[in-house]
Amino acid sequence: MKEVLSRRFRRGVWRYKELLPVSDEFIVDIGAGGTPLVHARELGRRIGLRNLYIKNDTQNPSFSFKDRPASVAVSKAREFNLPLVGCASTGNLASATSAHAAAANVPCVVLMPDTVELPKIKQAGMYGSHLILVDGTYDDTNRLAYLLTETTKIGIVNVNLRPYYVEGSKTMMYEIIEELGWRGPENIIIPMASGALLGALHKALREFEALGLLKDAGTRFHGAQPAGCSPITDAYSSGSDKVTPVKEPSTIVKSLAIGSPGDGEYALGIIRRTGGTGQTVTDEATIDAVHLLCKTTGIYAEPGGAITIAAAKKMREAGVLDAGDEVVCCVTGAGYKADEHIEPTGKTYAVKPKINEILQVLQQEILATTPLT
Ligand SMILES: Cc1ncc(COP(=O)(O)O)c(C=O)c1O
Repeated sequence: MKEVLSRRFRRGVWRYKELLPVSDEFIVDIGAGGTPLVHARELGRRIGLRNLYIKNDTQNPSFSFKDRPASVAVSKAREFNLPLVGCASTGNLASATSAHAAAANVPCVVLMPDTVELPKIKQAGMYGSHLILVDGTYDDTNRLAYLLTETTKIGIVNVNLRPYYVEGSKTMMYEIIEELGWRGPENIIIPMASGALLGALHKALREFEALGLLKDAGTRFHGAQPAGCSPITDAYSSGSDKVTPVKEPSTIVKSLAIGSPGDGEYALGIIRRTGGTGQTVTDEATIDAVHLLCKTTGIYAEPGGAITIAAAKKMREAGVLDAGDEVVCCVTGAGYKADEHIEPTGKTYAVKPKINEILQVLQQEILATTPLT
């Protein structure tokens, strides 16, 4: 497999097509995956981690990691010859499924809570999907999507196509392992909503180990959730094996607001077995992390992606991580999609179209406050 991959120029989800359950002729490839792993030196310096890496999954066709699962699930829907696809979404999966359905020329119906951020609703609509906005929580939305599969020949990517959906997500870990030179990271921090991504990344590691591509990676899996919707990390903190649903999620990190996480107990088990931790992060710390990530790496993430940076900082402060520990933070969605609580810190100046006005700003505002050395 290593030899096959070393000869393969193609990057992205379908680079690993032998390990994905879809026949070649049905593949819908709009360029999902193949995202960079960046050594974030300055960010690491600020939070006290020398070996901090960002897996930048904001760089996907619809700007979140959800393009990975959608790519495989929509491809499989084509293979099954389903007339309609869809999803239940907290926002990102809506656009990922819609983008792939549009490219495959399959009609698409997405269900979302009506509280999802406007840019995400608009983006999903751009691909021509039918949008159903539910006056309720994500759990209500998911239940309705499930009922739809019982009466309609529809492939809901995260309901009746869920096993294929998970296969797509695992490619993120394949890439990390390849980029690190065929080894697993010491620590990985993953945002959790349903817990499916964490489970999928762990599956990838085990598969590479089983194929003999990797020796006992020893990676510790850490999961992060927002304080207003933290059923999995609460179970971790209380020492329980049972994940108790949160009835009314209340957080600005809407993409992670799943009160009853389908893969919660599975994710919790992986966290415990690998010696990882569950991190509950306040909305304030997550917003700070969006800014810090942006200013030190040039990566503009949505809160649901930057939460892993806030978790890394918290873990370092609590001594869970040492300065030399290697940490990969999965940054899973782009900032443009969820910016209602994010205020830019750079100043804006309105000028007439005259160079003198700009020089004045330069002298009075910029040069006066910015040392040139
Ligand atoms: C940006 C982002 N990151 C992470 C996740 C977590 O996904 P999962 O439900 O697989 O835990 C989501 C889920 O919607 C998301 O939108």
